[in-house]
Amino acid sequence: GAADKGGWSSFMAKEVSEEPEAVANTLRGRSHDGVVTIPELEGLDDLFAGINRVIIVACGTASYAGMTAKYAFEQWTRIPVEVELAHEFRYRDPVIGPSTLVVSISQSGETMDTLMAVKFAREGGAKTVSICNTQGATIPRESDAIVYTHAGPEVAVASTKAFVAQITALYLLALHVSQVRGSQSKLAIADALRELEAIPAKISQILEREQAHIEQFAGWMADTRSVLFLGRHVGYPIALEGALKLKEISYIHAEGFAAGELKHGPIALIEPGQPVFVIVPSPRESAEMHKKVVSSIQEIRARGARVIVVAEEGDAAVLPYADEVLRIPLAGRLYEPLLAVVPLHIFAMGLATAKGLDVDQPRNLAKSVTVE
Ligand code: G6P
Repeated sequence: GAADKGGWSSFMAKEVSEEPEAVANTLRGRSHDGVVTIPELEGLDDLFAGINRVIIVACGTASYAGMTAKYAFEQWTRIPVEVELAHEFRYRDPVIGPSTLVVSISQSGETMDTLMAVKFAREGGAKTVSICNTQGATIPRESDAIVYTHAGPEVAVASTKAFVAQITALYLLALHVSQVRGSQSKLAIADALRELEAIPAKISQILEREQAHIEQFAGWMADTRSVLFLGRHVGYPIALEGALKLKEISYIHAEGFAAGELKHGPIALIEPGQPVFVIVPSPRESAEMHKKVVSSIQEIRARGARVIVVAEEGDAAVLPYADEVLRIPLAGRLYEPLLAVVPLHIFAMGLATAKGLDVDQPRNLAKSVTVE
């Protein structure tokens, strides 16, 4: 009923508004004075010391959280990380063993494809950690260790607040592993924790400053038939997530691409009026990547694309080529995805709402798919 939505027009609207708390609650109680302290992982140091490979398995939005976290995980732990869709993983005879850590991600903890991947990993002798939002669900019960996301119950079929909580939990796990293995200095770990702690307030800022603007132009785009999303590095999985959300709830054809791949194919799709979202990396964090993404923008703009950029505050280089600019606060490169995804969630919701669709219960989809 309406009461459960707490006055919001939909569960999705409520859950997007809860993205700041989802991150804050997932961080709470898991660090102290710049040291990672995850109670659930106590006594497992040998497990984390003994791994030489990480495979992340998940489906849907959770898989994009995995793709996003791969960058931080590898950078901090120096352990090679692969991300694989859970339903593909066990059918390719993967090379796994006691020194493989398989990290599953599932909001519900009941997704059958993900559960079967975890069971398969265990049978192959791998160690398993579950990132899950639902206490006592099946996947965490089948795993050696659990790091719960504390996003609170997610009701809307399309996942939003669970996504930012999953990235947060994966970052905490990666920092924990770095700490156990000594692969990062104490100072670096404390810095990373400080960056994470600052995220909830920055997400709130996006909701306060940009939500009305995004909903307005999403409304203007209600008749759009196709939307493309481009991103590079950690912006790439965010582009995929932006496209998935739009497909899921607004039934608009949407594709996410790695910006560097544009010239290898997707640019053929650009015709006058084609809306393209571009996640622009911070020029402060990576001048080189920023320059490359801006030149991708120039190329699509020259072919008539309607460009909507998600860029950090103060980035003026994007202004001459952008039809719309969605601002996100400054953050370190690895933390940008936790911010850049928020405007995309708002956009998908705004567009579906403008089309008069039920954003909480999209056609043909289930919140949790418990069949293979
Ligand atoms: C379904 C939902 C998606 C979700 C995916 C994984 O397909 O419709 O929104 O991302 O399952 O769900 P999980 O509960 O495993 O995170």
